[in-house]
Amino acid sequence: REGPESIGDLQALAGRTVGVLGYGNQGAAQAANLRDSGVTPVVGNRVDEYATAADEAGFAPRPIAEVARAADVLLLLVPDEVQPDLVRDEIAPGLRAGDTLVLASGYNWHFGLLEVPDGVDVVMVAPRMIGAAVRDRYVSRVGFPCLVSVERDATGHAWDTTTAIARGIGGALGGAVVSSAREEAALDLFSEQAVWPLVLGMLRTAHAVLTEAGFSEEAVLSELYLSGEPSEVFDHIARDGLFGQLGLHSRTSQYGQLRALAAADVTATYERFSSVLHDDILSGAFAREWSRPEAGEQLDELRREAETSTLARAEAEVRSRLQH
Ligand code: NAI
Repeated sequence: REGPESIGDLQALAGRTVGVLGYGNQGAAQAANLRDSGVTPVVGNRVDEYATAADEAGFAPRPIAEVARAADVLLLLVPDEVQPDLVRDEIAPGLRAGDTLVLASGYNWHFGLLEVPDGVDVVMVAPRMIGAAVRDRYVSRVGFPCLVSVERDATGHAWDTTTAIARGIGGALGGAVVSSAREEAALDLFSEQAVWPLVLGMLRTAHAVLTEAGFSEEAVLSELYLSGEPSEVFDHIARDGLFGQLGLHSRTSQYGQLRALAAADVTATYERFSSVLHDDILSGAFAREWSRPEAGEQLDELRREAETSTLARAEAEVRSRLQH
């Protein structure tokens, strides 16, 4: 981890045209930050409402294929599932040896889904932050952490380009963490497929146990999450530490939490997490499954099931009664 702004020299971009492909969550924020850092990018976007927003912000967007031909350093900021086809059809034909493709996530590259011509550097500058905050935290100089890596160094100076881009988008302010596409993708997928399903499943199970015991929907859901208290706790976990934040709770709560944590049998969770990491994620099994054409429809079906579940229906009712 490098200290604030101790890495990255914008000189590495001197004489090179930077293109931002996509003007969504990350694209809009990173383009604005680059411009304020003195590296005004050319924005490439298809004709849609994002292009209108880019136009209104003074970026005069051009077709993606045109920017891919014109720019030397290209930030790929369209959704991950769109990238493989877009790179093959519109971006790769415009790339020349010596150009740099900058990824904001490691998934497609690590799982071999991007065909990038030889001679082109491939690097990653992945903000650990949602797009709106990438902009806000640049403006306020608070910064945000970024995972950075060089995936293919065809030119011999890919690292300089990587750190210059990290600095230009404000990613050096919050500390740049040297990583890899493999690590970024694995950690992201692990949070999504191991940690968060357990959190969601735990809340759903808690709701079932408590309402079956006769406690009211309003009281149960307010206690579990509708009050917003969990997000306050997570905020303090980030600032004060997983256990440092315990001091904010009553002593009764502290005793109850630590006693139950010490007694918890996490063997099954450990085994489940290891299996998700090795068998699903690192083996590439999940990436192959998600690349199937019918996977999108399966996601829609899973969302429909979740949104019509007992918990979702109870939540909607309580929300309307409590006017949340
Ligand atoms: P987004 O969903 O906001 O992207 C919208 C943009 O993609 C628009 O400019 C739209 O015109 C363009 N687009 C959508 N479909 C297209 C298509 N079929 N052809 C051409 N252009 C199309 O994307 P977001 O969330 O900014 O993600 C961009 C990259 O940043 C991804 O690699 C993502 O993993 C990464 N990332 C995103 C974070 C976030 O908080 N959203 C955080 C860190 C990384």
